[in-house]
Amino acid sequence: MAEFSIPSTNLLAQRYHRVLEISRDLASTLDLDILLQRIVQAAADVCDASAASILLYDDAKQELYFQAATNLTEPLMRGLVVPMDSLAGWIVRNRQPVIINDVRNDRRHFAQISRNTNFLTHSLLGVPLIAKDKAIGALEAINKKTGKFTDEDRDVLNILGAQAAVAIENSRLFQQSDLISEFVHELRTPLGSIATAAHLLERPELLEDQRQRLLGTIQGEARRLSELATSFLDLARLESGRAQYHLEHVDLAALLDECQVIMRNKALEKQQMLRVDVPPHLPEITADGSKLKQVLLNLLSNAIKYTPEGGHILLKAEVDDQEVRISVQDTGRGIPPEGMNNLFQKFYRVPGSEKMAQGTGLGLSICKKIVEGHGGSIDVESEVGQGTTFTVHLPR
Ligand SMILES: Nc1ncnc2c1ncn2[C@@H]1O[C@H](COP(=O)(O)OP(=O)(O)OP(=O)(O)O)[C@@H](O)[C@H]1O
Ligand SMILES: [Mg+2]
Repeated sequence: MAEFSIPSTNLLAQRYHRVLEISRDLASTLDLDILLQRIVQAAADVCDASAASILLYDDAKQELYFQAATNLTEPLMRGLVVPMDSLAGWIVRNRQPVIINDVRNDRRHFAQISRNTNFLTHSLLGVPLIAKDKAIGALEAINKKTGKFTDEDRDVLNILGAQAAVAIENSRLFQQSDLISEFVHELRTPLGSIATAAHLLERPELLEDQRQRLLGTIQGEARRLSELATSFLDLARLESGRAQYHLEHVDLAALLDECQVIMRNKALEKQQMLRVDVPPHLPEITADGSKLKQVLLNLLSNAIKYTPEGGHILLKAEVDDQEVRISVQDTGRGIPPEGMNNLFQKFYRVPGSEKMAQGTGLGLSICKKIVEGHGGSIDVESEVGQGTTFTVHLPR
């Protein structure tokens, strides 16, 4: 009962102190996913709320995305587009906090998230996230544990929100500069090849087939640059939390068949056998179908690229109570132990890969981000000279 003897001004001072402590912790977190999770935990904590969530605003698209929440074990909702006429949209547009002690009576309440999470919102306190004078999102504390949200709660959450916004901006800038310097580094090789080839082309004594080969180099490297740019943008969007996930019911059997059809010719060119193995009653899953397809196509394209002519490739789905597993198995060159540790690193390619096929080394990083964005994971087993199996695990 000691709490009751502390005067309320002291309690308030304690709360501010706690926010300051948390802010320090936030400022040192540069991984955006971890940061967002810490922010929502802190928001629920300092407001004595059952849950909290964070939404980020994409200025270019003028859309608001659901990003993280304390009451979600899996980030399936991540990237869900929330309408601008919702409460969170109101907070971002007006750059003002909101306290609503009965959400159901408010027209602006966006019920879809509640529906998707089976979580009922009764009361809500939301503050705008403002960084460098721009509204970058909203932070919401949901369902006060006892009583109602007060003006004091609002002030405390406002301070946390201001610190959180700065931390989010910092983390984005850090990731961007990191990614950009790696990208620029990767640009050098193809640009260098193009410059050299163009220079050599000027020589009058070149034979026709030498000229053709140089032209081929230029075209190939230009294609590589363009692929690099596309993959780079994909990854940058995924890493900054600006990627949108359009969730829908996905018929897995149909999706796997579609992937097989798309990749069939590539496999045929190398006389490889590409098979699909799907159990009869696969359940529908909730996922972003086109992102999932991107994952499977990259895994299949890897299997084809890094398997010699005549090899076998199997695309397989399995299901149990917990999860759906989709695996891509090949009889290719396999991956040596030192490669296994680096596979999911940006731009990493196992030495010698460039002799087998072109690539940017970004495919698996993108796959991993997308699968994790669905609350799943991806792993790999491989034996040099025998083959490789990548498995995507998705929670049901
Ligand atoms: N099935 C596989 N068998 C053997 N090695 C593989 C396989 N899949 C991936 N790798 C190795 O992992 C590296 C990284 O794969 P990733 O998909 O990220 O890049 P990439 O295929 O080289 O380029 P991109 O996918 O961007 O075109 C590859 O370069 C290759 O060395
Ligand atoms: Mg690849």
